[in-house]
Amino acid sequence: MKILVIGNGGRESAIIDKIMTSSRFGVEIYQWPSNTCLPGAIPFYPQTDDISIMLERIRPRDFDLAVIGPESPLVFGVGDHLRGKEIPVFGPGGLGAKIEGDKGYAKDFMRKYDIPTADFEIVFGYEEGVKYLEDAFFPKYIKAAGLALGKGAVKAESYDEGKRILRDIFIEKKYGHQEKAVIEEYLPGTEVSMLAFVMDESYFLLPPARDYKKAFDNDEGPNTGGMGCIAPCYAGGFPDVSEAEKDDYKKWGNVIIGNALKGFKKEGIIYRGILYAGVIVNDAGYFVLEYNARFGDPETQSLLQLIDGDLSEILYKIAVGDFNISYSVKRDHYALTAILAARGYPEKYGRNIHIIMPDTFPENVKIFPAGLRKENGKYLSTGGRILGVTSIDPDLTALKKRVYDILETISNEKTFFRKDIGSVYDKKT
Ligand code: AMP
Ligand code: GLY
Repeated sequence: MKILVIGNGGRESAIIDKIMTSSRFGVEIYQWPSNTCLPGAIPFYPQTDDISIMLERIRPRDFDLAVIGPESPLVFGVGDHLRGKEIPVFGPGGLGAKIEGDKGYAKDFMRKYDIPTADFEIVFGYEEGVKYLEDAFFPKYIKAAGLALGKGAVKAESYDEGKRILRDIFIEKKYGHQEKAVIEEYLPGTEVSMLAFVMDESYFLLPPARDYKKAFDNDEGPNTGGMGCIAPCYAGGFPDVSEAEKDDYKKWGNVIIGNALKGFKKEGIIYRGILYAGVIVNDAGYFVLEYNARFGDPETQSLLQLIDGDLSEILYKIAVGDFNISYSVKRDHYALTAILAARGYPEKYGRNIHIIMPDTFPENVKIFPAGLRKENGKYLSTGGRILGVTSIDPDLTALKKRVYDILETISNEKTFFRKDIGSVYDKKT
């Protein structure tokens, strides 16, 4: 099977690795853009920054399957383009991906299809936003409605802070051109990433995962693309999870994923890929903060390690509309991913940091390159999140030790990593 994977971050490294290690049949994997670090993934040329030039080179039926990792190509309709060339695509078209690309649309959609979410107001411009804030209670979350690399949601503790955030969005254009913003009620609670394989009206929930979004230990510092992940993680919590808690998760999946799929059907949207809900859990229930139209990063690095099954077959079948997929989940294992980042990330950070990989490491450890390239046999950083270290184990303490031993070896004075991934478990009383 000839597969094109679009994207070159840690998530795509994990997808490619899982396809290569789980496929029962021969696979030939092309990657665009390539991070040059994955043996066996063939760079698809031209390796330009311009996706439209790359797309022009693809002829009808050139691939048996395309897997689109990141949000931008999904939102810009690359799925539709490739389907137009009779290539089965894992990932929704532009209409389906709007659930991620337009937070205003997503909030209206949730209201329309009875999906619990924070109360909100959509504002079109700075003045309208400020006027709304004059009578508002704080704290609030204020979010640029369009794509913002996961950094467009900011908490406002006061009217003045709210004004500053609106200024960043509409006047300073910190997140590029944004037509509107969502201002929503602040919801306390713990966060869970709920991901599901989706085909039209059918879905399979993956185990719940927790993404550590803040840069530093104890959830301090600025928001990042994600510094680590532990799965499974019911309600953000404890390994000895009760059956009732698992049932709750399934029940909320019926609402959060199930209602969304009914909504897509009513809106005439064909959705095949991953639907991912960022969920807050508190005493009042589960609330969707956002939907993503793709695999999460770094959730995917952890979650795929918990799956036993042929990933290329699963993705292909979903892409062609056959939901007769089979896989099993390692229910007695935890999967942990910790990210090595460049010092200064997510603000200003250096590139070309020389990363020295260990000659050998335990068999059940995966190193997933992200902002990393290989040049003349040397690994050099190209981005803020450089790589992730992932492993699985039934024993959480052994798991943490294994992952952190590797990170201690690979890291250097120009890099950093969070040392508390998975530690939510230690704190629960
Ligand atoms: P979003 O881009 O909407 O997922 O928001 C990014 C992060 O901001 C989330 O993962 C939460 O940690 C936080 N967040 C967003 N909206 C809210 C909210 N209404 N209440 C509490 N935290 C929020
Ligand atoms: N883990 C957050 C994201 O993928 O958006």
